Amino acid sequence: MDNYILLNFILIIFNAFKTSIGHFMKGIILKSYLQHVENSYGIEVLNLAIDRCKLESGGLYINMLTYNDEEINSLITETSSIVNKSANQVEQEFGNHFFNDLLNEYGSYFEKSNMKDFIHYLNNYIHPEIDSSIDGAITPKFKLDERNDYFILTYTSERKMSYFALGLLLACNNYFDNEYEIKLSEISGKNTYFEFHVCHQ
Ligand code: HEM
Repeated sequence: MDNYILLNFILIIFNAFKTSIGHFMKGIILKSYLQHVENSYGIEVLNLAIDRCKLESGGLYINMLTYNDEEINSLITETSSIVNKSANQVEQEFGNHFFNDLLNEYGSYFEKSNMKDFIHYLNNYIHPEIDSSIDGAITPKFKLDERNDYFILTYTSERKMSYFALGLLLACNNYFDNEYEIKLSEISGKNTYFEFHVCHQ
């Protein structure tokens, strides 16, 4: 076996082991976060945040490998202190940025007639497909509860990235002609359960 194959084999085994013992996230999201910080705040802020975090990965991410959730949390915390914004605000801005990445990469997934249809598709097809086809991927669940003229989305995830989800949902709503007003309305439990009220404007 040459060294390159051996190294890849070790990386795969190591990743499978990591994902079985904690909360881990795919490099695709972390890479997108670094890009977002560079675009919005400049390379100096990005380098300073990476330096301050003392990341296990050194800030080098590969899309389909997994990294400790702590990396994204500390990157968001450090960025927010450097740019003097709240961590929630930075996380939400990143959600908006990530939506545009998704749109560029998977445009056809968004060919739905409205946001509600898209959320059904996300829940029933996109995220489950990712969980089953990408080793170690864990996507959140959005339970959709229809009321008379609005719906409630309940977000459940151990990752607690509710403001990231809010940024994504607001950008998604904007893409579908701002049909709704979206509010993050309840945070409870161990901070793993959130509700979004999605009402007609
Ligand atoms: C507006 C639409 C979407 C929303 C609101 C959404 C929401 C989220 C959130 C909040 C996460 C972070 C993980 C967590 O909270 O547990 C996540 C992860 C992810 N989503 Fe979505 N998502 C959307 C669309 C998509 C689309 C279109 C794709 C791909 C085609 C996608 C692929 C992924 C992947 C690969 C992850 C990372 C999984 C991991 O790290 O293990 N999402 N999504």
